[in-house]
Amino acid sequence: MQLKPKPEYEAETERTRPERMDWWRKARFGLFVHWGLYAFIGRNEWVRAIECIPDEEYRALADRFAPKDRPAREWARLAKDAGMQYMVMTSKHHEGYCLWDTAQTDFNSVKRGPGRDLVAEHVEACREFGLKCGLYYSLMDWDHPDGGACAYDPEARRRFVDFTHGCVRELMSNYGPIDILWYDVPQPLQHHEGWESLAMNQMARSLQPHILINNRSRLDEDFSTPEGRVQAAEAGRGWEACMTFNDRSWGWMPSADPDSWSVRDILKMLNTACANGGNLLLNIGPAPDGSAPELAAERLRAVGQWIGRNEEAIYGDVDRTGVGRATACGNFSRKGRRLYFWVHCWPGSEMALGGFETRLERAWFLASGEEIAFEQRGPRIRLHGMPAESPDELVGYTVICLDFAEEPVHRSLPTTPALNQGQLLASPAEA
Ligand code: GLC
Repeated sequence: MQLKPKPEYEAETERTRPERMDWWRKARFGLFVHWGLYAFIGRNEWVRAIECIPDEEYRALADRFAPKDRPAREWARLAKDAGMQYMVMTSKHHEGYCLWDTAQTDFNSVKRGPGRDLVAEHVEACREFGLKCGLYYSLMDWDHPDGGACAYDPEARRRFVDFTHGCVRELMSNYGPIDILWYDVPQPLQHHEGWESLAMNQMARSLQPHILINNRSRLDEDFSTPEGRVQAAEAGRGWEACMTFNDRSWGWMPSADPDSWSVRDILKMLNTACANGGNLLLNIGPAPDGSAPELAAERLRAVGQWIGRNEEAIYGDVDRTGVGRATACGNFSRKGRRLYFWVHCWPGSEMALGGFETRLERAWFLASGEEIAFEQRGPRIRLHGMPAESPDELVGYTVICLDFAEEPVHRSLPTTPALNQGQLLASPAEA
């Protein structure tokens, strides 16, 4: 394959990006699955390194690995129930154990352990349940003999990069269409040239022309991946926040259950993603037998029930809202001139929004369609005659639709209200 220079390659991926990323931007919400031998220990997926487990002791975990029948179907069903549209599974985490039939190492789920290709099971489950399919691949590798030495020994680097590209080539070649290549931790090599990422990603794209690639091979590629926080990346660029379920571990860790996100926490994250034109990739860490964690499953199903009533506020052409601080009661998402106001804290029969400069035409509850009375004076929109309690009996998180005359313009007002008086004079309703 003829290697394209970086500027040419980047110009080309930029050109095809809007079309390639269209489904992803509209999908908004995906399931991340961290599954590996660390599940047996249940103290975080980094346990091999953190607790200094000797190699042979760690590798022997594979001999106990006997997953139940096709657990990926259970995750895929759960993802569907949760209102998610795609699923990304760890094909190999930092521990180095490959969950597919690879020729690059014997430390894999076909040669050692279950004797099954678990990547194939994941891909099949995605197809069966109509989910887009992503593969996570950790560049850092604690098992490969050159995984550390590659940093200072050129021959080790050569071997390790060949191994890495070999793995990626197999993943991109052997499972039909793959939608996302999700790299992780490009250590210990500090530059994309060390990983030969340009060649690696051009190879991936030659095999999977529609694939989306994240930004963790030391090249920017298609989207950014803020981790542990739902925070917008730079404007004009796709971003996907990845979150554990308990703020502590990506892998199975039942002792962290008490710190699990509530349904409301998850909806708040999703709202923040929607408000800023990003995606949310929420993780589960299945048990050693592949079962989805019970608590996470329960909460995800409740999230899905809520989304089922409010999906218009989430999927499709939802774009950055451009709304700053208009209320402390919730946040927004937006499609064209329609704002979806996700009311996190229900204030009672009335509330107001500050700072809108566009005329409001109509307000109603998304789930029931019931109209809401409002008045608009200057920068203040007052909604009134509403129920005393949140109409959302699932989790008390109600979405109000606000149709403006045109795409709403919002200005966060100065913190000293006296400075606002000038704006109170002209009401958009009267203008
Ligand atoms: C981090 C962690 C890793 C996890 C990943 C997910 O980089 O090292 O354990 O898989 O984030 O984004």
